[in-house]
Amino acid sequence: VDHFGFDINKTFKQRYLIADKYWKKDGGSILFYTGNEGDIIWFCNNTGFMWDVAEELKAMLVFAEHRYYGESLPFGANSFKDSRHLNFLTSEQALADFAKLIKHLKQTIPGAENQPVIAVGGSYGGMLAAWFRMKYPHLVVGALAASAPIWQFEDLVPCGIFMEIVTRDFKKSGPNCSESIRRSWNVINRLATTSSGLQWLSEALHLCSPLTDFQDFRMLKDWISETWVNLAMVDYPYECNFLQPLPAWPIKVVCQYFKDPKVSDQLLVQNLFQALNVYYNYSGQVKCLNISETATSSLGSLGWSYQACTEIIMPFCTNGVDDMFEPRSWDLEELSDDCFKEWGVRPRPFWITTLYGGKNISSHRNIIFSNGELDPWSGGGVTKNITDTLVAINIPDGAHHLDLRASNALDPKTVLLARSLEVRYMKQWISDFYTRQG
Ligand SMILES: *[C@@H]1O[C@H](CO)[C@@H](O)[C@H](O)[C@H]1NC(C)=O
Ligand SMILES: *[C@@H]1O[C@H](CO)[C@@H](O)[C@H](O)[C@H]1NC(C)=O
Ligand SMILES: *[C@@H]1O[C@H](CO)[C@@H](O)[C@H](O)[C@H]1NC(C)=O
Ligand SMILES: *[C@@H]1O[C@H](CO)[C@@H](O)[C@H](O)[C@H]1NC(C)=O
Ligand SMILES: *[C@@H]1O[C@H](CO)[C@@H](O)[C@H](O)[C@H]1NC(C)=O
Repeated sequence: VDHFGFDINKTFKQRYLIADKYWKKDGGSILFYTGNEGDIIWFCNNTGFMWDVAEELKAMLVFAEHRYYGESLPFGANSFKDSRHLNFLTSEQALADFAKLIKHLKQTIPGAENQPVIAVGGSYGGMLAAWFRMKYPHLVVGALAASAPIWQFEDLVPCGIFMEIVTRDFKKSGPNCSESIRRSWNVINRLATTSSGLQWLSEALHLCSPLTDFQDFRMLKDWISETWVNLAMVDYPYECNFLQPLPAWPIKVVCQYFKDPKVSDQLLVQNLFQALNVYYNYSGQVKCLNISETATSSLGSLGWSYQACTEIIMPFCTNGVDDMFEPRSWDLEELSDDCFKEWGVRPRPFWITTLYGGKNISSHRNIIFSNGELDPWSGGGVTKNITDTLVAINIPDGAHHLDLRASNALDPKTVLLARSLEVRYMKQWISDFYTRQG
């Protein structure tokens, strides 16, 4: 029993998915997706790359769900009740779950025991893949960490880099686009000074519930900012549905509404509505825009909000000059107070660096860090080669882990190149493993 009175030998059910269609017992491999903050079926369906390379690598595919997400809830419906129940939600515990699962699979699946395992993940899952290889090198021969911002932490990269990349995407997707968005904040602020202005704004943006106070107004601006951020993450070259159903190169479509930065305030807001509608109503099924929602419900926002209050403390800031947002500095104290209010916990901003080495990772081997240059998370990613086995693969036309998505006729050449390099490294790790085995 621990000091909270929990039985520490208690177990919970962890969900995982397995596909063995192309798996070969003779000379095969195991690709192990280190699940991140959401429903594992959703990640599985959005990681077509693993399915595409399974035959070539004779690979069994395993997708492991992260504790506290999807159906892998340690305390069932009570998992998010309070910090006592959430105390077991950490990246270290998630990695330990993956280790246990790999041992279990090797013990129970005949033929799996003497096969090399490669960790694969995207985004936070990519961070976990890299960290898993660092902490459990006896269990995985290498890791493909796609769009993994392992350096988006205190003192490792400038806090403004993320929003600068978002801005760069809008700037290059249409003339006057980022300028118009930069101007929109002042327009919104002006309208929000009167209650009739707030009402007009609510109607012009077709909001589900009218804005009534300052709190709503802050929420509106955060929601708009998050929309631009999400668009930068999913600026994919073809129509698809990751965070939302979207057209090909959605930022270009959005920027069609922001060509003239000198329009009247009213017209700018109407254009803003059209632009938001690209993201929220591409399906044409949406009746009104809801400022409480920005992405698919397959992502576990409760668990993530707790992780973002404890271990995963990522500094972000804007200055309104190098980016198209309102200036906002990084305020750890404010975050800490918000976290205390919401969960009764306070952040540990330097723990991740202590735990995983920050920039001092050159003693590790066999990790691929891939990053799309359109992806704002590339700012906190590893985009330069560290050693000949800690390699960076940059994808100029790629958004958030485009390389992990299924191949598509509209894929840019740069992502095809990245994928073929990734496969080459993975084959090398596999053959090194079998050479060592003799
Ligand atoms: C961008 O804005 C400038 C200044 O208002 C204007 O001269 C230019 O025509 C605009 N570009 C387009 C494509 O409308
Ligand atoms: C969403 O698109 C449909 C079809 O174009 C339209 O009828 C509806 O009004 C749109 N919803 C919003 C909130 O604009
Ligand atoms: C808006 O989203 C929130 C959070 O998902 C939900 O609780 C609420 O019912 C939604 N409102 C409308 C009008 O759809
Ligand atoms: C990395 O290691 C060097 C030399 O051991 C040390 O001076 C530096 O502070 C370390 N950097 C970090 C971020 O830990
Ligand atoms: C890292 O090294 C590999 C192998 O030489 C090369 O293919 C790749 O382009 C390099 N990455 C960067 C970002 O320079």
